[in-house]
Amino acid sequence: MTSRRPPAPRDAAGCYSIEDLRTLARRRLPRAVFDFYDGGAEDETTLAENRAAYDDWRLAPRVLVDVAGASTRCTLLGAPAALPAAIAPTGAAGFGWRGADLALARAAARMGIPYTLSSSATTAIETIADQAPGRHWFQAYVLRNQEFFWGLVGRARVADYEALVITVDLPVGGKRERDFHNHFSIPFRFSARNVLDFASRPRWALEMLLRGMPAMENLRGLEAAATSATAIASSVGRSYDPAFDWSRLAQVRDRWPRTLVVKGVSRGDDARRLLAMGVDAVVVSNHGGRQLDGAVPTLHALPEVLAAVGGRLPVLVDGGIRRGGDIAKALALGAQGVLLGRATLYGAVAAGDAGAQRALDILHDELLRTQRLCGAPTVQHLTPDLLRPARPAPVRTPPMPSPAPAAGMPWAGTPARANGAAPPRAEDRAPAQEPVAS
Ligand SMILES: Cc1cc2nc3c(=O)[nH]c(=O)nc-3n(C[C@H](O)[C@H](O)[C@H](O)COP(=O)(O)O)c2cc1C
Repeated sequence: MTSRRPPAPRDAAGCYSIEDLRTLARRRLPRAVFDFYDGGAEDETTLAENRAAYDDWRLAPRVLVDVAGASTRCTLLGAPAALPAAIAPTGAAGFGWRGADLALARAAARMGIPYTLSSSATTAIETIADQAPGRHWFQAYVLRNQEFFWGLVGRARVADYEALVITVDLPVGGKRERDFHNHFSIPFRFSARNVLDFASRPRWALEMLLRGMPAMENLRGLEAAATSATAIASSVGRSYDPAFDWSRLAQVRDRWPRTLVVKGVSRGDDARRLLAMGVDAVVVSNHGGRQLDGAVPTLHALPEVLAAVGGRLPVLVDGGIRRGGDIAKALALGAQGVLLGRATLYGAVAAGDAGAQRALDILHDELLRTQRLCGAPTVQHLTPDLLRPARPAPVRTPPMPSPAPAAGMPWAGTPARANGAAPPRAEDRAPAQEPVAS
């Protein structure tokens, strides 16, 4: 098979996929900044597997279905949305493109989906509320400084944010080795070790030098930021509260009367406990592979979580979504919707407003196209029967009679194994994976 690499895009309009927007971001940004967005923890196993998990499924399209009026519209956490998706919280977006948070929030509003502001964003809670219309969710890490944490929650309430998203997969910062190698720190420090990297992207560097590095607006005054690269669990990483537990989450539930979402769940038992506690939704997430490397890929964790809550709690999923078809697969497995992390972030840091918009347009177009090609006129028609495992189990063959062991050989007689168990017979092997019911 021959495949020619497409020419590198020069602007957002020349991007036809999320991968194109990623390429554009890579061309525009110093390596240290691009890697901060693109990278994952340690060996990046979970980062890669989040993405690869979508490849474990194939679609079996229904034919002869009237899809002329097909639509991606849906209800997401109780309110209408144009796509079964929301923008995920991503901190420090402004380091890539000044105003990237606003670009994402405005693109979300134009598309008609919720936008989640990170507590470590470079735009203030109130600025998003004032300058971007639409549905806003506020993501909070639980901080050691409780007064500060409750202050953030209070500000989100006054600014009329619809939902509070508590991220629970980050008791400590993950070990992101690309950042160490690149001498990347927050706040940025132009130093002898990274000056060549920054100088290789003069437009970015000049803009930052002239106008100054953006700050994490919502965390101003929290504590002096980290300065060394090895502290790059990030400056806020040191402020997270590793003692945050179920009893403290119950306090958050008591004090936040609106929609409460818990992000960073991978297990059925945790999801069931969250349901019992009265949270309104969970996000199956491993932080895009930026925290615990080796964590189960989110699409594989999704069925366990769905089965545990049995339809009594909306379940969203994120991690590795780069195509509209990925959204279709997540919904077919039973998710109510997805969060878009790097997919839209690449767009925003590659080309600001135009890039954020382009990312959403691409995903919307791809999802609608997938629905039409699959005979799914609405997102409710994205059901488990559309899915087939990409690699079906090998066709079963009758067990071969084993040759009789030669008399006198040590293994003659009972087929014992090291653990004392008999070897599995062909008919005892795990059956082909069935599509998971929603
Ligand atoms: C650069 C970057 C910053 C992030 N910052 C936050 C954050 O501040 N809060 C949070 O809950 N998740 C954060 N995340 C995780 C995302 O919300 C989301 O879970 C993840 O990006 C999904 O994986 P994907 O990027 O492969 O789609 C961040 C992710 C990235 C890539």
